[in-house]
Amino acid sequence: MSVGTSGAPGAQAGEHAAHACDPNDLPDGLVVADEQGRVICYNTAAERITRIPAAEALGQRLEKALPLEDLEGRRWWQLTDPYGGLAIRTRQPERNLLLPGGREVLVSARYVRGGPTGPVERVVVCLRDTEARRRTERSHAELIATVAHELRSPLTSVKGFTATLLAKWERFTDDQKRLMLETVDADADRVTRLIAELLDISRIDSGRLEVRRQPVDIGAAVGRHIQAYVAAGQTADRFLLRVEQPLPQLWADPDKIDQVLSNLLENAVRHGEGTVTIDVTPAASPREGEDTGTSVTVSDEGPGIPEESMNRVFTRFWRGSKRGGTGLGLYIVKGIVEAHGGAITVGRAPGGGAEFRFTLPVAAPAYLT
Ligand SMILES: Nc1ncnc2c1ncn2[C@@H]1O[C@H](COP(=O)(O)OP(=O)(O)O)[C@@H](O)[C@H]1O
Ligand SMILES: [Mg+2]
Repeated sequence: MSVGTSGAPGAQAGEHAAHACDPNDLPDGLVVADEQGRVICYNTAAERITRIPAAEALGQRLEKALPLEDLEGRRWWQLTDPYGGLAIRTRQPERNLLLPGGREVLVSARYVRGGPTGPVERVVVCLRDTEARRRTERSHAELIATVAHELRSPLTSVKGFTATLLAKWERFTDDQKRLMLETVDADADRVTRLIAELLDISRIDSGRLEVRRQPVDIGAAVGRHIQAYVAAGQTADRFLLRVEQPLPQLWADPDKIDQVLSNLLENAVRHGEGTVTIDVTPAASPREGEDTGTSVTVSDEGPGIPEESMNRVFTRFWRGSKRGGTGLGLYIVKGIVEAHGGAITVGRAPGGGAEFRFTLPVAAPAYLT
């Protein structure tokens, strides 16, 4: 029945209200008891959470239909006594309680009174599953464990080499000392990099990653990265840059785009082999209501990424080879691309290696288009 048939003969206002807002549509469990403490509403989410059918709960006393205990095993309705307690109380804040069988549920309640200190006419209880919250808590705990582990391995090496040098300084040749100090230096860099990546991740996860847009020449940016690699000793023919013209004017955050390019190129050089090909082309914007974008494809001729791992490469700390860094690079790349309203995909290059392609909306300010 549609809500629009309000003129229908015999239809009552109350009936309409029920149709307009059905408690069974609520994502959370809803239980309502009347002035005598008898259950008059028990929605489907409440059935799912408590595993007590509504037919069984309706008409029962609240403490029977909703047998909650606190974490010390005390009966919650006895403890809070909504009908007999303090006459000015109007609510119970959200609390973690237990259902029979020890399942956890988040419970909050509101007491609807006749007047400011009048008798309780309704007790409205809201039930929320704790599963989702527990899942995020578990992933936080895993993140902390991984971070601690990642920080410990370079620090162990720093500590080991400095302790050895301090204890046996005289016994080492200059070359040996230099080698140890170089290792310490590289490990200190690794800790610094890891911390910078973790800060990026925290910004991405909390939605605080700021995108400061200005015109970006992405072909020139790729060119600068290639020059830096060549200056550092890579041969120039390791890279092939192809920029299709004309490209739409791209508005993006140049520092962040540099971070994306540097991660993808570093992966192609480090994890891949052969020629690294970078294609910059105009593309359809991934964002609705905008028709142009810019697409960058980075492909190599290395072993590529196994099909079964492709959906894991963008997750935190995943790394496929021992040559890996922290396994955070691609997670950050994806976070930056998405903060721009863009999208990134991974696939297999025609030459067999890995192929990463990201597309950014041009995102020119409205007054320029
Ligand atoms: N071009 C590539 N070729 C093969 N494997 C790659 C490539 N790029 C990334 N990978 C795989 O994806 C993993 C995750 O990459 P990333 O998040 O950048 O972490 P990291 O480079 O620190 O290991 C890498 O460890 C590697 O196994
Ligand atoms: Mg990487």
